[in-house]
Amino acid sequence: MTLRRWASADREPFALMNADPQVMKFFPACLSQDESNALIDKNERSFEDEGFGLWAVEVGGRFVGFAGLGRVTFEGVLRSRIEIGWRFARWSWGNGYATEAASLCLNDAFLRLHLDEVISFTTETNVRSEAVMKRLGMKRRTDLDFDHPRTPGWWGQRHIVYEVAASNWARSRQIDP
Ligand SMILES: CC(C)(COP(=O)(O)OP(=O)(O)OC[C@H]1O[C@@H](n2cnc3c(N)ncnc32)[C@H](O)[C@@H]1OP(=O)(O)O)[C@@H](O)C(=O)NCCC(=O)NCCS
Repeated sequence: MTLRRWASADREPFALMNADPQVMKFFPACLSQDESNALIDKNERSFEDEGFGLWAVEVGGRFVGFAGLGRVTFEGVLRSRIEIGWRFARWSWGNGYATEAASLCLNDAFLRLHLDEVISFTTETNVRSEAVMKRLGMKRRTDLDFDHPRTPGWWGQRHIVYEVAASNWARSRQIDP
């Protein structure tokens, strides 16, 4: 598995993934080709400005999805905190790719970026995404659960939150932060 910056060849498989209703079931809508391309461009700017972003994930030379870090920009108690997120092409689910890629991102978060903690959140019925958080050893933070301010009226507006601290991650992976 390789986590890398985005290449122009990723745009097509990325757009296909973002147009798949199964992949986008827990988002308000699928993305158009233009929206998908804009997301790549936004990410590349994030790497330049923040030093982190969503990495393109490649397995066996094939684009499979993304995993990485982002800064929360919406209003509320989570604003400015660093979240980890993931999205993978449907055909690639069930192989542990999301958990493996997210583990590499958390190593990066704590060993290179020296963050104190990282959060993750998802709409409350997205069991597969929550399972990744659990597999990573993230802790549920019911006190931080929230209604996403950018999706008023959407059935999935309620979000659940998990968190992992640098010290817990280092201990669980037996690494020296
Ligand atoms: C969320 C998402 C990335 C999870 O993908 P996933 O493939 O279920 O998660 P993992 O990569 O951790 O793989 C775990 C599965 O692979 C299996 N597996 C096989 N080899 C494995 C390995 N070496 N390590 C871990 N799991 C492995 C596990 O048993 C598990 O299978 P199960 O789901 O049948 O129990 C995927 O469902 C997705 O892209 N969803 C759409 C986007 C989305 O909702 N993103 C989150 C928004 S907040």
